[in-house]
Amino acid sequence: MKAVMISEGIYHIGANIQNGDLFEGLWPIPDGVSLNSYLVQGEKTALIDLMRDWNDAPLTLEKELHRLNVEFDAIDYLILNHMEPDHTGWMNGFLERNPGCQIILTKRAEPILKEFFGVTENVRVVKTGDTLDLGKGKELLFVEAPNVHWPETMVTYEKSSRVLFSCDAFGSYGCLDDAVFDDQIDDEKHAFYEKETLRYYANIVASFSSFVIKAIDSMKDLEIDVIAPSHGLIWRENPGAIIDRYRKYAAYAQGPAEPEITVIWGSMYGNTQSILKSVIQGIRSENVPVHVHQVPNEDPSYALASAWKSTGIVCGMPTYEYKMFPPMAYVLDLFERKHVFHKKVFRFGSFGWSGGAQKEFDTRTEKLKWDFMAPVEWQGRASEEIHELARQRGRELAREVKKLCGGE
Ligand code: FEO
Repeated sequence: MKAVMISEGIYHIGANIQNGDLFEGLWPIPDGVSLNSYLVQGEKTALIDLMRDWNDAPLTLEKELHRLNVEFDAIDYLILNHMEPDHTGWMNGFLERNPGCQIILTKRAEPILKEFFGVTENVRVVKTGDTLDLGKGKELLFVEAPNVHWPETMVTYEKSSRVLFSCDAFGSYGCLDDAVFDDQIDDEKHAFYEKETLRYYANIVASFSSFVIKAIDSMKDLEIDVIAPSHGLIWRENPGAIIDRYRKYAAYAQGPAEPEITVIWGSMYGNTQSILKSVIQGIRSENVPVHVHQVPNEDPSYALASAWKSTGIVCGMPTYEYKMFPPMAYVLDLFERKHVFHKKVFRFGSFGWSGGAQKEFDTRTEKLKWDFMAPVEWQGRASEEIHELARQRGRELAREVKKLCGGE
């Protein structure tokens, strides 16, 4: 990816990662992800956020800096907004090329730098309100943004250009091509990034939603012309759009979310699956959008994103050896970890010789603050009465969801 000027003396230098790896070793990124670093040049030069040695990202960084006539040893300051290795992993490689560079980070980041990279020298700790004058009118302001995404995180703001370097906040999955700004892409591409922003939020940031709100509030006095995150698009035409999107996603944690329903299902021999259509018919009869995800066939990353923005959830799974169908247990575990709270929910599913899934479902969801409707459960093959009950329950859920979201 070619370096791109954001403003006089400020450049985006990004590397696309699209090698089939999982993000955080966990989340599929079939359309990749970008690692965004930023160069700010006054009399002194600062690099904001580094990269991991991943898919040759440091080589890209080196090449693009070189095109700007900047070699690694000309960088005076390395600003680490966040210590997660996607932004710091190449630390020792960088310091080999530039041992005199001063590293700027928060107090909570200092021990992480030491334990991950053995670096203790030439480190400057900053806190909210501290500034760094680079000369030629470029001045950086630091604002702590704890838990967006790790506890040590901060954002950096360049005063003259009003660019906010927000690290993980306001980021998304998805590689960048030559178009890196929000005003350079069409509606279809915007829809793609919106989808990947939601999935990134649900996978990476969701557990910290209350901190997202606090961070956005703490930036309210900054006049922001450009938002430059460490993953995904740079927002210069409408930075308010990505702030509003993040605020909305964070608010979903308290419910209700959108007037939509996510159905997650798994089936062993087709008996649970046979009811799926009836549930969906019931939901659709109320004109409520429904998102359907099968486990284990599809990675839970996608169900997590749908569930995050849905007010209603349906879990369909049979009993498996007196308990839940195992892939659903993993999904519910993720939902608890990621705080998929305050949903209206019911479960459907079959059993062979004895039930048990519902009992485990009740226990596993105790901490989710979900509001339950009666389950639809049966032995063996589903009768027409069960189909009708499933349609009815789908309809009831859809009505409840509309009511919760302020509709009919
Ligand atoms: Fe992109 Fe939390 O690191």
